[in-house]
Amino acid sequence: MGKKTLPAFEKFVNDLRDIWAEFPDDETRMKRAHVLMERDLLSDPALREHCKKWPSTEGRKNLLFYTDPEYGFVINGVVRVPGRTGSVHDHADGWVLYGLLDGTESLERFRAVESRKDDGYVKVELVSDTKGEAGKADLVPPFDIHAEQGSDIRSVAVILRSRVLVGEVLQGRYDRETGEYYEGSGPQQIPYELSA
Ligand SMILES: [Fe+2]
Repeated sequence: MGKKTLPAFEKFVNDLRDIWAEFPDDETRMKRAHVLMERDLLSDPALREHCKKWPSTEGRKNLLFYTDPEYGFVINGVVRVPGRTGSVHDHADGWVLYGLLDGTESLERFRAVESRKDDGYVKVELVSDTKGEAGKADLVPPFDIHAEQGSDIRSVAVILRSRVLVGEVLQGRYDRETGEYYEGSGPQQIPYELSA
């Protein structure tokens, strides 16, 4: 008996491949994906049930569901334990669509008020703090400075990345208190099958 990929996930991947084939630029692709993710994926009852069993990704990990062999987009999962605080970072030149599947989180956005990256210093300032609810996705453009914060309950997100980041590019990391800036690799990728 072979395991079967969750139908909503399989459809999402196929629809993404159509979008990637049709449009050449990542901004258009990711905006299209945003609509699709909220409409077809985050609303899927089977996936919402399935995600209750996903393991915690504490310790800077991501579940790795899929990497497209042709177009290079990546689909990850993240499971935050109650009370999880997130650090301030960017995703280098990748676009990231961050869709909340279960629980609540808040997304903080920052701007650089003083930037001397060569000296390891970027002073950041909080510009907004938006509450995320299950079923909604947030699109984060390249080099946008942000942090995802957990809540007092477990929360689960599905993440679409326009390109492979881990192992290929370093991402900016920011200390909101001291202004320290450095670049490092993104979360460890843990392969995980989305099958029924
Ligand atoms: Fe992020």
